[in-house]
Amino acid sequence: MPNESWDTAIDPKVVGTWNLHKAIKGRDSELDFFLTTSSISGSVGTATESNYCSVNYFLDVFARYRRSRGLPATSIGLGMISEVGYLHENPEIEALLLRKGIQAINEDELIQIIDIALTNTSTIPHAYDKLAGAHLLTGLEPFGLKEFRKKGFEGTNPTLDDPRAAVLAAALGGQADIA
Ligand SMILES: NC(=O)c1ccc[n+]([C@@H]2O[C@H](COP(=O)([O-])OP(=O)(O)OC[C@H]3O[C@@H](n4cnc5c(N)ncnc54)[C@H](OP(=O)(O)O)[C@@H]3O)[C@@H](O)[C@H]2O)c1
Repeated sequence: MPNESWDTAIDPKVVGTWNLHKAIKGRDSELDFFLTTSSISGSVGTATESNYCSVNYFLDVFARYRRSRGLPATSIGLGMISEVGYLHENPEIEALLLRKGIQAINEDELIQIIDIALTNTSTIPHAYDKLAGAHLLTGLEPFGLKEFRKKGFEGTNPTLDDPRAAVLAAALGGQADIA
């Protein structure tokens, strides 16, 4: 990847987030929230988009960093958004993600996700990782993929082979939808 392409994707999110972090230093208690729009790509990876994947992973880790310092921060790993935004305007990339089994989130669902992320109660207590609430990952819901598979879809996502995705993979393989 040419350096220029790397910088074009990295700079707005890394430099931009860092600028905001510095600019509000000492005034964080006045904030109701600090929200970054990350992507599922930062968690599952997308071929040919190492710049975009890396920079979104940065956002996810940066939210953890802020929380570790007692500062508000939530990074939403958005799945594929239909109806509005970049993918809506670039259907060939939308098709690439669909082939990996990533489920589309429509505009109404996107607004609901942001609403949940802005609510303090959205943090689910986690026994081993106190900072887990800094990252909300969406777009990997297995039920839509199950429906696709019933219709003959054979695409897969290597993420499902990752031990961290064991619960998700089991839900996908289970016979009963309730499982
Ligand atoms: N669309 C999706 O399916 C999807 C999926 C996952 C995550 N996301 C995330 O959601 C966010 C919004 O996505 P989108 O689809 O709405 O993207 P978009 O339509 O391409 O909009 C990007 C926005 O970022 C601004 N921007 C771009 N480069 C900038 C820079 N160097 N400095 C300051 N502002 C800059 C643009 O400003 P101008 O209008 O002035 O150019 C525009 O308002 C992004 O963080 C993206 O990573 C989107």
